[in-house]
Amino acid sequence: MVSKTKGTVLVTGAAKRIGAHVALHLARLGYGIALHYHRSKIEAMSTAQAIYKTGVPCELFCCDLADESQILKLAPQVFKAFPNFNVLINSASIFIPNQFGAGDLSLFKAHWNTNFKAPYILTCEFARLVKSGQVINFVDANVIKYKTKYADYMMTKKALMEFTKMAAVQWGPRIRVNGISPGMILAPVNNQPDDRIKRARKIPLQKIGNARNIMQSVQFLLENDFLTGQIITNDGGESLI
Ligand SMILES: NC(=O)c1ccc[n+]([C@@H]2O[C@H](COP(=O)([O-])OP(=O)(O)OC[C@H]3O[C@@H](n4cnc5c(N)ncnc54)[C@H](OP(=O)(O)O)[C@@H]3O)[C@@H](O)[C@H]2O)c1
Repeated sequence: MVSKTKGTVLVTGAAKRIGAHVALHLARLGYGIALHYHRSKIEAMSTAQAIYKTGVPCELFCCDLADESQILKLAPQVFKAFPNFNVLINSASIFIPNQFGAGDLSLFKAHWNTNFKAPYILTCEFARLVKSGQVINFVDANVIKYKTKYADYMMTKKALMEFTKMAAVQWGPRIRVNGISPGMILAPVNNQPDDRIKRARKIPLQKIGNARNIMQSVQFLLENDFLTGQIITNDGGESLI
């Protein structure tokens, strides 16, 4: 069954929300799915059920991406289960408001470990293991600005954007490395304020985006083999203003 797929994609944070939409979309395109989750086991199993129906192989991988020893094991585990592992999508992330110097360093460490160190290590491991392939990193449309409401989160995404470009240089032509910067797609989690409707009125396309817009960008990046080091900003023009 594995040999009939286009390869296998590891999607981090794929139990629910954007990661789950991307995993299911890629399953429909014929990729085997290595479905990473951490706390959302029930949602991960439900997403896997939907993926099984597409006929491609799918396995669940539980890993705390804030724990370096666990991150180091993840890509080798996926490679062992799926020798045709050829796409890595770093979608898992935390997004918690804070400002520099407020509180202790716990939010600083949590953001850097999960949002930057994990995709960094996974990309290095992926490049070590596979002959050729592709990486897509989820960045953020606000990364080009200097807003401080989510200061540590934004710093990690700024670093991830630059890492995406440098990794494209280092690992080309064997591996293409690109990114997607979503704007307003899904409501924030953990009861954080959802001001998207108000904000959407002020952006050029005057609407909120959806998971389908992101899936279209993922597919475009995977299929266009003359793209590397590029970040598609999928935000209805929000970052222009
Ligand atoms: N949603 C948007 O509109 C939007 C806007 C801008 C940028 N983005 C970016 O797009 C990507 C996807 O967005 P999203 O809203 O779908 O993400 P999300 O719901 O905030 O997070 C996705 C997953 O990340 C996983 N995660 C968090 N901490 C983890 C840890 N320590 N170890 C392992 N996994 C961990 C969680 O998995 P478990 O639940 O299994 O623990 C969670 O379900 C993110 O990188 C985000 O920054 C999204």
